[in-house]
Amino acid sequence: MARLVLEEITRSFGDFIATDHISLDIEDGDFLVLLGPSGCGKTTLLRMIAGLLEPTSGSISIDGEDVTALPARKRDLAMVFQSYALYPHLSVEKNLAFPLKIRKTPKAEIASRVRAAAEAVEIAHLLDRKPKELSGGQRQRVAVARALVREPKAFLMDEPLSNLDAKLRTATRRELAELHRKLGATFIYVTHDQVEAMTMATKIALLNNGRVEQFGTPAELYDTPSSVFAAGFLGSPAMNLLDATLTTTDSKISVFAPGLEAVLWHGTTEERECVVGVRPEHLTVHESGVPEAVPTAGIALRGTVELVENLGREQLVHCVIGEARVTVACDRAAQWVVAQQVVLTAPIERVHLFDRASGYRLEWQPEAVSAPLPLSALDAELSAAQSAPTTA
Ligand SMILES: Nc1ncnc2c1ncn2[C@@H]1O[C@H](COP(=O)(O)OP(=O)(O)OP(=O)(O)O)[C@@H](O)[C@H]1O
Ligand SMILES: [Mg+2]
Repeated sequence: MARLVLEEITRSFGDFIATDHISLDIEDGDFLVLLGPSGCGKTTLLRMIAGLLEPTSGSISIDGEDVTALPARKRDLAMVFQSYALYPHLSVEKNLAFPLKIRKTPKAEIASRVRAAAEAVEIAHLLDRKPKELSGGQRQRVAVARALVREPKAFLMDEPLSNLDAKLRTATRRELAELHRKLGATFIYVTHDQVEAMTMATKIALLNNGRVEQFGTPAELYDTPSSVFAAGFLGSPAMNLLDATLTTTDSKISVFAPGLEAVLWHGTTEERECVVGVRPEHLTVHESGVPEAVPTAGIALRGTVELVENLGREQLVHCVIGEARVTVACDRAAQWVVAQQVVLTAPIERVHLFDRASGYRLEWQPEAVSAPLPLSALDAELSAAQSAPTTA
């Protein structure tokens, strides 16, 4: 059980900054996922938490104790590597007992802890086997069990599922989430897979170029991405992102791009280049020439169907809007055909706006979103929103 606090953790390799002033508060019992593309600094950060790599600057504390200078073995954290690092010549039982043996734990206690850990991950029937006699998923569970026997303060895992095939990965994902619930322990888990992050995490720290792009619950990151990067990283198919211009027409704030029109709110704004975001599942397809389909406050995209993909449960309708490509995910009730002219709409509360130069989200007041064309002036919020993203 542990609360981990990272303060301004920076690590450079020569001139290259791998992690840049990362601050995170990981609460006791959190399942924190460090998520981000290859090379963004996830493993580097995890190794610093584990005590395997020294930060260039910044501090790490566990339950209020500064551990920045403590070596790995004194931190009482268990690391599960992608390769599992099992001893090939030892049986599963001996692999599990090993970390306790080197700590000179009494024999009887070793036996009971090995048994308990093996039962927790359902490998008790495999204790006599050698690692090479196990499947990938079973090996993965042995690696988790070996971390479990130590009863550590927290579990650190670096892409532990990446060696498994897709089906096993889904099953193991569920097992890990279940194990986390059962143990109530703190997990810090590295992955570049947004599905793993969305399904297992209680909190996600989305990293980009060594910095925290956004920190929050999976729902917060999905529903209110703080930047174009976050918007594009989470969600499959990805959020549609269109370059547009934010401007004022007839005392209304609106957004324009080829094929796109959106009336957002009453008010005025300085003209600025923006990015409009809308998730595929929030768009509705209409036959073109149906004016009442266009919402009074919201977004309308006019274009042509380019491709329809039948996924069984739903269909993806890919459209060309001006110079952009836009994907809609919808049920299969309606048949859309290639080259058909269509209008895509989404209500205002489903529209995300980002500043194009900085990439940051443009915020507005929630009450302004709930009512169509509210009378509040929003320029102040729009310009105030140009601040830094949340780096919690
Ligand atoms: N020992 C090192 N010396 C020099 N550069 C390093 C070292 N370790 C990591 N880096 C660099 O730091 C950056 C972050 O590496 P890191 O391994 O943390 O990425 P990652 O997010 O785990 O990526 P992946 O998803 O590919 O595992 C990379 O550009 C990497 O090349
Ligand atoms: Mg890595």
